Amino acid sequence: MCGIVGYVGKDRAVDFLLEGLRRLEYRGYDSAGIATLDDRRRLHVLKSPGRIETLADEVRKQTPTGATGIGHTRWATHGAPTERNAHPHLGGDGVVALVHNGVIENHASLRERLAAAGYEFRSQTDSEVVAHLIAESLRQIDRRGPAPSPKDRLIQAVELAVAQLQGTYGLAILFRDAPEWLIGVRLGSPLVVGIGDGVHYLASDASPLAGHTDRIVYLADHQLALLMPDGLEVRHRDHGRIRHQIESLELDAADVGTGGYDHYMLKEIFDQPEALRNTMRGRLSDDDATAVFGGLNLRPQELRQVRRLLITACGTSWHASLVGEYLIEEYARLPVEVEYASELRYRNPPLEPDTLLFAVTQSGETADTLAALRELKRKGHPTLAICNVVGSTIAQEANGGIYLHAGPEIGVASTKAYTSQCLAMAMLALYFGRLHHLSYDQGRRMIDAMRRLPDAVEEALQTHEVTRRIAERYADAGNFLYLGRQMNFPTALEGALKLKEISYIHAEGYPAAEMKHGPIALVDEHTPSVFLIPQGFVYDKVMANLEEIKARGGPVIAVTVEGDSQTKQLADEVIYVPQVEEFLQPIVNIVPLQLLAYHIAVLRGCDVDKPRNLAKSVTVE
Ligand code: G6P
Repeated sequence: MCGIVGYVGKDRAVDFLLEGLRRLEYRGYDSAGIATLDDRRRLHVLKSPGRIETLADEVRKQTPTGATGIGHTRWATHGAPTERNAHPHLGGDGVVALVHNGVIENHASLRERLAAAGYEFRSQTDSEVVAHLIAESLRQIDRRGPAPSPKDRLIQAVELAVAQLQGTYGLAILFRDAPEWLIGVRLGSPLVVGIGDGVHYLASDASPLAGHTDRIVYLADHQLALLMPDGLEVRHRDHGRIRHQIESLELDAADVGTGGYDHYMLKEIFDQPEALRNTMRGRLSDDDATAVFGGLNLRPQELRQVRRLLITACGTSWHASLVGEYLIEEYARLPVEVEYASELRYRNPPLEPDTLLFAVTQSGETADTLAALRELKRKGHPTLAICNVVGSTIAQEANGGIYLHAGPEIGVASTKAYTSQCLAMAMLALYFGRLHHLSYDQGRRMIDAMRRLPDAVEEALQTHEVTRRIAERYADAGNFLYLGRQMNFPTALEGALKLKEISYIHAEGYPAAEMKHGPIALVDEHTPSVFLIPQGFVYDKVMANLEEIKARGGPVIAVTVEGDSQTKQLADEVIYVPQVEEFLQPIVNIVPLQLLAYHIAVLRGCDVDKPRNLAKSVTVE
């Protein structure tokens, strides 16, 4: 969703701001803007609806000067994506300029009060309210006297203003009278500070900082950072000035590029073997025949007492959670329930005290997932996160968790984070299984299978060509069905989601046998059905479902394992993938479905990495 960048240093701020905004494009946005401040206290504000390149054209024409600046990509919530509603917003007569991520819930009452006090609103956004509120707070402080130091004056004004806000915010704030200072403050919306040589950077995630610095500070809720070219001060609402912890950023500029692929999504599909290796690295113990997680922050004894798991997530992460439900119930014999986070946060399910919550999230910022985690924490349940983005809000708030280490995922449609999440689930099934009844031998067999997985995924990537040819045949279809059974039912859901997200074709995932209770009415010669052919005891049953589709003239695209010779006699198209242990087959099977969606979207001329209406991380409810 919205993205923030900020710069205070010695060079032209606009160069970092534009580059940083391009790196944040993946979050999804519909307008963009920057403000720079030069040492003669002139504020240059440029905004435009649409793509960052439009803003870049304006920058080329007007060359805004100044070594301090802020920038923003906006994903409209309050007010249409127009130039007026784009950030930065000015407070007072331009004494303050700010950009905002998040949602201010009490914006209407604040707006009324500020308008009555003479502040003139130029936009329909909740964010402009914050700009005027800070301007108003500066006035109040000036009236109070005796005057605090210039630095304290600004900090106090921001603290006074944010204390009146209800909702969530990540803010980057410039003050016309203080061209060498930049303030960042957050509650429920991430901010990261980068420390350079005579320069400090601010951003809503670490990707704009890659290649500029490897020293970063993750701000936590209620923290405020004052950035100067040569200094950084961090304060907490309740504790005043605090020592900040500098962490190292393991990301370089190449990690956030397309690496020669046409799209981020395609690069990330091909990153999967390496991402899976990284998810497993150092986490499989041959001696104990189990998985080892360093960050759960719960003792094995405490975990052994867990009687039930509740997994919560949204979107693709919810599908990975469903895979986890099958695997953990099967291998660890622990009851698992998977809940949409948006539902869980408002439900009050009866939960026994020995229930452990897992929040699964690529970004670690999804508002509904965060709210569900907080709700369960409030009720005293231990909470763990399965998360890709280091230092993200959910990673910070959970009691512990597992980082995926899949590397930055920039394409809006999740691919490598999904397969890494599924693998993390398989490792959890092994871990909990070994805490209970799973034998040493069974554990070792699962570990061996996991170690072979990246090579199998590498082989599955060779379906690139065949999926492209199939895509050419079906790119004009208006509807698709995706059908799978057991642990490949979530694969069907995820395959359908990939297609609809990026190609805008209506697609539904269903358990294969359930399709005759409704979706079969959709079947005709223009509606392809993608079948995930299982091995084992449900094979014949799925083949029977496939015949039912064929009997109604529906084209069938089948994904099956090498060596299955029967499927090709029935299906119109067959995609062969390597056979792996059953519990890992969903991870191999999703690969051709990701590629199929990708090729269809490209053929239809869709914006694969930035599909319409979607955001990479949804930080509003
Ligand atoms: C958005 C994205 C999806 C993603 C979902 C959950 O809707 O467009 O791709 O699956 O959020 O995101 P998370 O970061 O929590 O996994």
